[in-house]
Amino acid sequence: MTVREKLARELTTARDRTLRLVDFDDAELHRQYNPLMSPLVWDLAHIGWQEELWLLRGNNPGRPGLLDPQVERCYDAFLNSRASRVDLPLLSPTEARSYCSTVRNKALDSLDTLPDDGSRIQDEFNFGLVISHENQHDETMLQALNLRTGPALLDRGAPLPPGRASVAGTSVLVPAGEFILGVDAIAEPLSLDNERSAHRVDLPAFRIGRVPVTNGEWRQFIEDGGYDQQRWWSERGWAHRRDADLRAPQFWNTSGHLAGTRTRFGHVEDIPADEPVQHVTFFEAEAYAAWAGARLPTEQEWEKACAWDPAAKARRRYPWGSSEPTTHLANLGGDSLRPAPVGAYPAGASAYGAEQMLGDVWEWTTSPLRPWPGFTPMLYEEYSAPFFDGDYKVLRGGSWAAASSTVRPSFRNWDHPIRRQIFSGVRLAWDIA
Ligand SMILES: [Fe+2]
Repeated sequence: MTVREKLARELTTARDRTLRLVDFDDAELHRQYNPLMSPLVWDLAHIGWQEELWLLRGNNPGRPGLLDPQVERCYDAFLNSRASRVDLPLLSPTEARSYCSTVRNKALDSLDTLPDDGSRIQDEFNFGLVISHENQHDETMLQALNLRTGPALLDRGAPLPPGRASVAGTSVLVPAGEFILGVDAIAEPLSLDNERSAHRVDLPAFRIGRVPVTNGEWRQFIEDGGYDQQRWWSERGWAHRRDADLRAPQFWNTSGHLAGTRTRFGHVEDIPADEPVQHVTFFEAEAYAAWAGARLPTEQEWEKACAWDPAAKARRRYPWGSSEPTTHLANLGGDSLRPAPVGAYPAGASAYGAEQMLGDVWEWTTSPLRPWPGFTPMLYEEYSAPFFDGDYKVLRGGSWAAASSTVRPSFRNWDHPIRRQIFSGVRLAWDIA
C-alpha cells in the first residue's frame, strides 16, 4: 500500500466514524450536553473547516473559502469557547454534512495529484494532521455523548477479549540507562510537533505498573477512606476534592452508600472490578498513588517503559514491535466504548513487560506539557505552543476511543489537572530504593 493509499484509507476510516457519531436527529445534534463540550454539529463542521483551511487554502484564512466569512468564524476554536458554541449561528446538520463532504472530495482529488517531488512529504504530513485532528474530535464527541443524559443513544460497545485478573497490582522493572525520547520525521513522518525531536535521556531505574489501576483497586481506596483523608492529597488536590465534592470516579453512582453501578453512555451497569478505572482527575490519580505507596510516572519514564527495546538499543514503533495495531494487540478505535479488562493483551506487551500501554485509558503523568529540545511549530501553530506554560499535565497512551492511526508511544495529550470527562486512568510507578 502506498503512502497516499494509506492516507486515503485513514481519511475514510475517520470520516466513517465521525458520521456514525452524528447519526442522530437535528435537535440532538444541536444539544449542548455539558458546558465543557460543544454541540455535536459544531464538531462536525469544525472538522470540515480545519480540513478546508489546511488542505485547500494553504492555511491562509485570507484566501476565500467555501463558507461565508461570518459563518466560518464560528468554527475557529480559539475565537469561541466551548461553552459559547451552542449560541452561535451554526450550520444546520444537513449543511454541515454537505460542507464536509464537499471539502473531503476536493481533498481526495488533491491527494491524488500530489506532485512527486520534495513538497510531497510536507503535503503528506498535512493530510496526516487532518486525520489526527478528525480522530481527536471523534474522541471528544464520545466524551460529549458520555455526558449526555436520557435514554442511551449508543449500544454497550463491541466485545473485548477476556483479561487475566492476576496481573492487577503487579509491576515490571525498567533498569537504569539511556534511551531515546521522542521521534523525528524519518521514523514517524506523521508525528506532531510536540513529539519531536528524538533525543537521548538517561533515567534511574524504576518500576512501573504492568497494567493500569483497576476499578476493584480504586474501590479499596474509597473503602479505606481515601477521599476523606487529606494526607494522601496535594494541597491543590485536596482543595479541589472539597470544592467539587469528589467521592468516586465520575459516572460512578454514589448516592447514599457507595453503590456498585456506573452510568456509561446512558447505560446503568455493574462496575467491572478488573477493568482499568477511568474518569479520574490528575489530583485523584496523585492521591491514589500516594495511598498505594507509589507515585505517578513521569512522561519520560512512561515512554521508556512503552517504546524502548534494551536488547536492540532502539525504539520500537509500538510497544510490541513494528506491526500495526490489531484487535489482538490493543483496544483502540472507539468501537468498544470502554476499556478492556487488565491482562487482555499479553501479545501487546512492551519489551519490559508493561501491558495495555496503548489504548484502554489515557494515563496521567506527573509531567507538565513542555517542548522537547528542537521544538518547531507545525502547520497548526496553535496545536502545542500556547499550552506549554499553562497548568496542564501530560497524559499518555491513548484511550479505547483513540484511533490506531493517531496514537503512538510518542503521542502526547494534556489537560487541566481537574478534568475527568476524558477517558483518563492511572498507571503507578515506584522508585527503586
Ligand atoms: Fe479542532
